[in-house]
Amino acid sequence: MPALRFLKPLLVSLVILGSGFVIVVYAASEWKMRRTYDLPLPQPPTDFEPDLAAGERMAKIVGCWAGCHGDGGEGGEEIPGIRQVTAPPLGSVIPRYSDAELVRLILHGVKRDGRSAIGMSSYTFWPLGDADIGNIINFLRLQPPADEVARVRKIPFISRLKLLQGKWWLSADQVNTAQPRWGNMPRSNAYERGRFLAAVICAECHGADYRGDALEGGPPLTILAIYDEEEFARLMKTGVSQAGIAVEAMS
Ligand code: HEC
Repeated sequence: MPALRFLKPLLVSLVILGSGFVIVVYAASEWKMRRTYDLPLPQPPTDFEPDLAAGERMAKIVGCWAGCHGDGGEGGEEIPGIRQVTAPPLGSVIPRYSDAELVRLILHGVKRDGRSAIGMSSYTFWPLGDADIGNIINFLRLQPPADEVARVRKIPFISRLKLLQGKWWLSADQVNTAQPRWGNMPRSNAYERGRFLAAVICAECHGADYRGDALEGGPPLTILAIYDEEEFARLMKTGVSQAGIAVEAMS
């Protein structure tokens, strides 16, 4: 049949085009993830009053502890979602980093090998003050060394496509160095402290501009207009929304 004569080459061309597309997406995304960033090592902070308790508190607030690296930095978890990446035990990686390399990783999302971290929310660490970073590093350096674990890194095709389309980002590409580092500015009243805390905590899932983050599922924070102070405190402390629903992501 004449129709069949056309169908076969058409199907063959489609298969070739499709495989070509997949190969290009894999190659280009792999290049992006492996490329190195030419960022000089920053000076580690020295001009601050060391405070280990403050370091522990900040390590929990920004999630080095009680976050992706496990309750006490033991790590080994795979972070689910758009990518599957192992958050390593902090005791296995921190001893291999100098202070300057740690500051660069925290502030810029750039690892020791010059490549971007994947899944570390460095853009919410950027607003940390020098003293916060110094205290966090001092505190984490007290952790006993831990063995290395096998590191999973699974990036599905759809995420690679999003990476190339600019709908998902590597940690280093997400940092906006034009944003103020609120932590280096006064934190002497409720407004200034709130501005700092929101930037280092809420922005992770509600977007750097608090207008919502489609990937993390956090809605625009304009929703807070319907909350009174008591309801807001309940949401923060128990994860129960104004409507009385347990919001698991906020737990
Ligand atoms: C780990 C991610 C994450 C972080 C960090 C986070 N949120 Fe959320 N938040 C979410 C998600 C996801 C939802 C939506 C859950 C749903 O709709 O079921 C949400 C919902 C909310 C809601 C709406 C609840 C409602 O009434 O429906 C408010 C308000 C809120 N977050 C405030 C905050 C504030 C303030 C911070 C910072 C102190 C914060 N969130 C930090 C993930 C997060």
